[in-house]
Amino acid sequence: MEAQLTIDRHAAIGDTHDRLFGAFVEHLGRCVYGGIFEPGHPTADAKGFRQDVMALVRELAPTIMRYPGGNFVSGYNWEDGVGPVEQRPRRLDLAWMSTETNEFGTNEFIDWCRATGIEPMLAVNLGTRGADAARNLVEYCNHPGGTAWSDLRRAHGWEQPHAVKFWCLGNEVDGPWQMEHKTAQEYGRVATETAKMMKWVDPSLELAACGSAARNMPTFGAWEREVLQHCFEHVEFISLHTYLNNYAEDMQSFLASADLMDSFIEEVVSIADAVAAERRSSKRLMLSFDEWNVWYRTRGKREGRTVPGWPVAPKILEEVYTMGDALAFGGACISLLNHADRVKAACLAQLVNAIAPIMTETGGSAWRQTIFHPFAQMSNLGRGRVLRAQVTSPTYSASYYDPRGTQDHHFAMPEVPFLKSAVVHNAEEGFLTLFLLNRSLDQSLSVRADLRGLSLAGLERAEQLQDADLEAVNSASSPDRIAPTPLEGIEISAGRVCATLLPASWNVIRLR
Ligand code: AHR
Repeated sequence: MEAQLTIDRHAAIGDTHDRLFGAFVEHLGRCVYGGIFEPGHPTADAKGFRQDVMALVRELAPTIMRYPGGNFVSGYNWEDGVGPVEQRPRRLDLAWMSTETNEFGTNEFIDWCRATGIEPMLAVNLGTRGADAARNLVEYCNHPGGTAWSDLRRAHGWEQPHAVKFWCLGNEVDGPWQMEHKTAQEYGRVATETAKMMKWVDPSLELAACGSAARNMPTFGAWEREVLQHCFEHVEFISLHTYLNNYAEDMQSFLASADLMDSFIEEVVSIADAVAAERRSSKRLMLSFDEWNVWYRTRGKREGRTVPGWPVAPKILEEVYTMGDALAFGGACISLLNHADRVKAACLAQLVNAIAPIMTETGGSAWRQTIFHPFAQMSNLGRGRVLRAQVTSPTYSASYYDPRGTQDHHFAMPEVPFLKSAVVHNAEEGFLTLFLLNRSLDQSLSVRADLRGLSLAGLERAEQLQDADLEAVNSASSPDRIAPTPLEGIEISAGRVCATLLPASWNVIRLR
């Protein structure tokens, strides 16, 4: 099979924002405890931060980190997680049916972010709490001093303000599984009042309102419209979440499913802009895709969602990602890059152990899951100006199953291009990077890219992620079973690059 790309340096989608390459740390299973934080681990520093995990995080290169949830935040009292550790209460966490010890809280998270050079993104509880707790948290974190909450932070040992800029107004409030789930009207009102008060404390904040927990939520569309009719003037972002699945064990449709992320993004942009039009406003809301990943084996009623007996840091949501999952995941990376004009923040959910690119053994080793690789390549190589390539590719038809979907739970996708691609030009550094996913399970794809207005002399780097066994995984005993290998046979001539992509492969080609 053959596919062509025409790439023109002047046909741009938009510039990637650093926050596009974020991830997520929730108090969920072993993400915090036994993940980023494990006092007593042989690699832990004086603060209990695992240095083996930190080294992998640096390699993964996330830029912003969402915390502390997720579903967890909708029942979280932030005050429980600050002050002397021995005085912090243990609480039942109703999101994940576990016991939260509160040994790790906001200040520890900020320290961890500073140590890794990552921007913190905090979510406030708009489930069981509201505007008052949220504005107090902003005052605790960001006010220099001279007030009760800011002086409490200083008394706790953090003299300088944390200066957290990006805040989420609750989490998935449209979902009935959420503690104190709300209607769009209820949420729109509380989000508005909370946003006002948070910004009165610190006018430099950037706020994200909750959009839909999934494109397939029955309220999707109506939810965004009504919420934004309330809080449009008070927020900069609207959020969206997606977890791709292969419940149907239909790999071809699973690989197509990232295209529904494209639709989701474009639909949310339309709704946000329609609300702007109704108000005759030139303001353009940006999108925060603050949860995205592949997730299905440990989801819903399947194994590993909760463990009875209210354990501390249970082994839950420890999805082991396959080679096939990494391909679908790569498709999602491409969707995000191709909407760099409006998606100005995004968080891979999550970072360690719970649906994560990094796995650990408590007390033991840490390794990269298959999905680690496309993310690291996107974050390290995908920054710059995303170009709008014209793509010609053979197509296939897919039927994507989603249990939360429309009536028959299937989405007909009649014309899915075998080639899914994104092109990023970094003029400053002089690189053009092609991200190419061949979604054919049995055929190679010869790709020819014509480059217009780009004078690129040679190949900087070319890698593929590919394995004949789409069920192959990485593990503690075989941590590099799936890892990028060189992509050979690239031909470069004046204004043209040609490559052959193996069946079911993720490929990255960087020219200079
Ligand atoms: O990331 C896991 C969970 O998925 C989050 O807590 C929640 O927001 C979403 O439903």
